[in-house]
Amino acid sequence: MSESINVPLTIREAERKDIEGVYQLYQSLTPEDLYMRFFTFHKVSHEEIEQLFSRQDHVTLLAEIDGRIVGEATLYEDGEFSVAVDPRERRGGIGTALVAELIKRGASSGMKKIKFYTLPENYPMIRIGKKLGFKLDFDEEQVKGVLELN
Ligand SMILES: CC(C)(COP(=O)(O)OP(=O)(O)OC[C@H]1O[C@@H](n2cnc3c(N)ncnc32)[C@H](O)[C@@H]1OP(=O)(O)O)[C@@H](O)C(=O)NCCC(=O)NCCS
Repeated sequence: MSESINVPLTIREAERKDIEGVYQLYQSLTPEDLYMRFFTFHKVSHEEIEQLFSRQDHVTLLAEIDGRIVGEATLYEDGEFSVAVDPRERRGGIGTALVAELIKRGASSGMKKIKFYTLPENYPMIRIGKKLGFKLDFDEEQVKGVLELN
């Protein structure tokens, strides 16, 4: 299991004031991380982060340590979510904590299921899915995780 988190971690909903912090988080990700998160190789622009904040079709949660945004997880209305954690803060349970909170939010807003897609080589994401009870479907190109809610 992950080591327990020994610094105060806050998980909360994103607000417009967080645009810069989320942009910085995305700047910390490697091209491989960005591919895992978006399924394309591209640097995320400031404009794209601003667009994420202006759309209403999702809830975005942030993980924060000492005022620094170290993780982000977004759940869309169709039940699909994705998550990213600052490489310097990984393996401390932050990814798991963000997805666990998204599950709670999805359930309390009446969603029937939530799902994620990732690549078969993304061990940490697959591990999060397994730990939190997702049903995993593997094929050569991707893994789909589905969790029935309620
Ligand atoms: C996937 C991701 C969010 C996980 O974040 P994290 O904060 O490291 O996750 P956790 O600490 O909760 O770890 C989850 C599990 O994976 C394991 N794990 C994490 N990184 C690992 C690594 N590099 N090697 C082996 N195991 C690893 C952890 O030990 C933990 O398992 P455990 O509870 O059995 O110990 C992070 O790796 C990331 O941002 N990746 C790039 C973006 C991405 O792939 N997003 C997913 C798309 S949906």
